[in-house]
Amino acid sequence: MEIHIVQNAERGAEVVADVFVRTLQEAGESGTVLGLATGSSPVPAYAELIRRHREEGLSFARSRAFLLDEYIGLPAGHEQSYHHFIRENFTSHIDIDDAAVVSPDGASADPVSEAASYDRRLREAGGVDLQILGIGSNGHIAFNEPGSSLGSRTRVIGLARSTIEDNARYFDTADDVPVRALSQGLGTILEARRIVLTATGAGKAEAVAQLAEGAISARWPATALQMHPDVTVVVDEAAASKLELADYYRYSRRLEAEHPLLALG
Ligand code: GLP
Repeated sequence: MEIHIVQNAERGAEVVADVFVRTLQEAGESGTVLGLATGSSPVPAYAELIRRHREEGLSFARSRAFLLDEYIGLPAGHEQSYHHFIRENFTSHIDIDDAAVVSPDGASADPVSEAASYDRRLREAGGVDLQILGIGSNGHIAFNEPGSSLGSRTRVIGLARSTIEDNARYFDTADDVPVRALSQGLGTILEARRIVLTATGAGKAEAVAQLAEGAISARWPATALQMHPDVTVVVDEAAASKLELADYYRYSRRLEAEHPLLALG
């Protein structure tokens, strides 16, 4: 894992945006499949990408995008649906074709089939080139709650009580938060060719420490990322505050800056 401890959200957004730019450049004419996340964590990075699109001509015209997850049971167009969130915060502000932004259908009458079909559609698109992730305070990625199989596929999952409480801030009351979601599985996410995860704030410190330094376990689902060969983690000082090896990560980034061909995972 390449762990970047940054001074503020703006610097973090630049590091994440640089990973996007590198991936878009590598894909060239063939276009990129982006894996997009919702939640507040990636929003500064989306804002930076929108800025680069407007001011520096960064283009997503040949990209397609797949969302990680979606609540089950919100009416189409509900402003807390992830379908709506990603357009509002990112994709309607860049030059990606709206029809190329795909998410699981949380209003499907048959969510179990929808989950299987979503997994299939991802594979048929050639898989995800770059997946951006946030992390829940309980260590979930997408909606893979503690206890999720490390090999899980896109499926229907019940939200943990702590997730409902965390996400209640977006709804009028905790009772309005859907209790189920369609979510890419950990096995699905691990098939992305490159992953960048971003987290800020002390509320994420324990989850970040487990993600990078904990034992791989369904107890902390994000630990599955330790098995992936190309993961960049971008955290602020507060989110990094429980990392035992923080000094080593800082030192490694400095070394890489001096010797650009080093890749000190
Ligand atoms: C949500 C989403 C995750 C997100 C996480 C953290 O429940 N399903 O994809 O990473 O919670 O959200 P936030 O970034 O707002 O803290």
